[in-house]
Amino acid sequence: MSQKWDKLIVALDLDDKAKIKEVVKVLSPKGVKFKIGSIAFTKFGPDFVKEFIEEGKDIFLDLKLYDIPNTMKKTAAIIAEMGCWAFTVHLQAGEQALKGVKNEVIETANKLGKRRPLILGVSVLTSSLATQDEVNELVSLADSVGLDGVIASPRDAKGIKAGFNKLKVITPGIRNPGSDAGDQLRITPASIAFANGADYIVVGRPIISQDRYLEAAERILKG
Ligand code: C5P
Repeated sequence: MSQKWDKLIVALDLDDKAKIKEVVKVLSPKGVKFKIGSIAFTKFGPDFVKEFIEEGKDIFLDLKLYDIPNTMKKTAAIIAEMGCWAFTVHLQAGEQALKGVKNEVIETANKLGKRRPLILGVSVLTSSLATQDEVNELVSLADSVGLDGVIASPRDAKGIKAGFNKLKVITPGIRNPGSDAGDQLRITPASIAFANGADYIVVGRPIISQDRYLEAAERILKG
């Protein structure tokens, strides 16, 4: 499974700076990407994110934007300016907001000569239950406005890829059999997520709550 390291996104859901840096130090030589969400962003702010980007790390800023179109597009422009690899918006924000985000991100990246961050739409949180129809309706909006991908349960990945093959599918909710699911409801091991067509898997606690991050990540990729 060594070829899958570049498909692993490690969620840095920690409020301890030293620990975050340690996880990044141990796992970046493997070529993984890192996700900074509301926990670390709220505690350490944008400069902390920029530090990693300046070191050449691929950072996925997972703030799950969900607001009126003007607020979303202005926030998206700042994220594009930071040089993040990817960021999330809630698909429920609707067509106008999502189109505004896309246009703003393209414009900002072009103006600054930076790579454009991937815009990933959150369909339904993997801690909630949803039908395939509900997921597909939101995903079809992501497709029609030209987002780059969606965040979805590994169990929904196959259906999404079947209907919308241009969209990247990023799946949290990854657990090895017999391990603690935490608050995640719709889970699978990594092998099933990839077999279902996931382009990337997002994994937090099964790696960051362990003492040996590298071995924990290896176990997940073998799972
Ligand atoms: O610790 P765990 O592996 O459950 O972490 C999953 C990560 O993916 C968390 O950072 C969570 O916020 C994020 N996420 C999710 N479900 C979504 C979108 C993001 O679990 N639909």
